[in-house]
Amino acid sequence: MNVYDSRRMEDVLRPLGYVSTEDMAEADLVILNTCHIREKAAEKVYSDIGRIRQFKDARMKAGMETFLAIAGCVAQAEGAEIMRRAPAVDMVLGPQTYHRLPELLEEARAQRAQGRAARVMDTDFPTEAKFDHLPDDAGNVGPSAFLTIQEGCDKFCTYCVVPYTRGAEFSRPVDAVMDEARRLVASGAVEITLLGQNVNAYHGLDAAGESVGLGGLIRLLDQIEGLARIRYVTSHPNDMEDDLIAAHRDVPSCMPYLHLPVQAGSDRVLEAMNRHHTRASYLAVIEQLREACPNIALSGDFIVGFPGETEAEFEDTLDLVRRVKYAQAYSFKYSPRPGTPASLVEDQVPEEVKSERLQRLQALLNEHQQAFNEGTVGQILPVLLERTGKRDHQLIGRTPYMQSIHVDVKNQLDVDATQEEAYNLIMNTVQHVEVISAGPNSLEGRLVLKGETQSVA
Ligand code: 5AD
Ligand code: SF4
Repeated sequence: MNVYDSRRMEDVLRPLGYVSTEDMAEADLVILNTCHIREKAAEKVYSDIGRIRQFKDARMKAGMETFLAIAGCVAQAEGAEIMRRAPAVDMVLGPQTYHRLPELLEEARAQRAQGRAARVMDTDFPTEAKFDHLPDDAGNVGPSAFLTIQEGCDKFCTYCVVPYTRGAEFSRPVDAVMDEARRLVASGAVEITLLGQNVNAYHGLDAAGESVGLGGLIRLLDQIEGLARIRYVTSHPNDMEDDLIAAHRDVPSCMPYLHLPVQAGSDRVLEAMNRHHTRASYLAVIEQLREACPNIALSGDFIVGFPGETEAEFEDTLDLVRRVKYAQAYSFKYSPRPGTPASLVEDQVPEEVKSERLQRLQALLNEHQQAFNEGTVGQILPVLLERTGKRDHQLIGRTPYMQSIHVDVKNQLDVDATQEEAYNLIMNTVQHVEVISAGPNSLEGRLVLKGETQSVA
């Protein structure tokens, strides 16, 4: 979501004449867009500020206007502290106020004009919706684009800062989402990933004032010509409604891949995490999904070493992983977050125990990921080709299951065409690719020639 937010900040700043640059020495404004979900985020911010300050000081000495803004969830949670500790920071803004960047910049400039240091802070949860105040996006998003449809969370898992930093759950109206999706497709997107901290809790209003769930929204998006692939992230198991599961069966553009975090496999731990689901209810959702969409690839998030987690409870997580067999997963050591209930529990798990459990869990997850990848060898899969690889005749794309695949396109090249012309024909399109081999993190494949595609199952 921070990638999406950063792009929208560019949209807000563009009318003021700002363009993005890779070169810090050129930057009139540097925005650090931060994440607070796990530890070390804040320390990283301070060390980045130190680095950026050198560029800023050099530019200011040369008389060039330079501002440094800290945005995102670290700013939301620790803005006042950042202002106190880091005089180089001119502005602090939270994830719900970046549409106000033009006013904040004005204020910072006005403060400097009075001979003071700029000290502007906006970490409100304004009543006006941010999305109503963002200009249209500028396009050129590439073949795979993000689109935020939902923000915030009301679930209050006891380890998580999101309800405090992103605020209450909010769904964008259906028409706003459809308009943005059409614009993204018109500017080149072939795939859209719908974003939300709790994306499957989506319940946007349509023009008639009726509430539409994520399944319904996916069906509407599927009608957009040129939109080949729809994904969504991240989902909560309790919000996997029947209609959404049915969309995985019925809607061709709804990809057979789902990121469905479970966090832990023990009911005692799930309860302490305030997850509101059990191991059994999670496994039941997985079963329903696999019935609707037998080839669905599953991904998950795991936290090891939640306060009070015993060895036996950790083994329940390993057992659940063995039952589900994830195609891909993210796993983390529990990290106490300021202001969350779990951070106050006395029975914290020692660091060495967390590290050892994480290693065991990741070994198992990697084994399953490798097995999943090997299971696709020999299959012909539709691949969205997104960029060129390092080797000659090599393009890189993704399978429906989110696997990254290096594709040899030599046999597609017309003898008369230059490599660039040949690439342009197939880049940013979905092509049939035969999977030749599988590694732990990516696949190798071969472009299937036109006459060959009849064999695609
Ligand atoms: N400690 C460790 N992992 C966390 N996550 C969220 N909060 C914490 C925390 N305090 C993980 C969860 C979530 C993912 C985005 O980050 O697994 O699904
Ligand atoms: Fe955080 Fe997700 Fe739980 Fe919401 S559902 S509190 S975002 S972990």
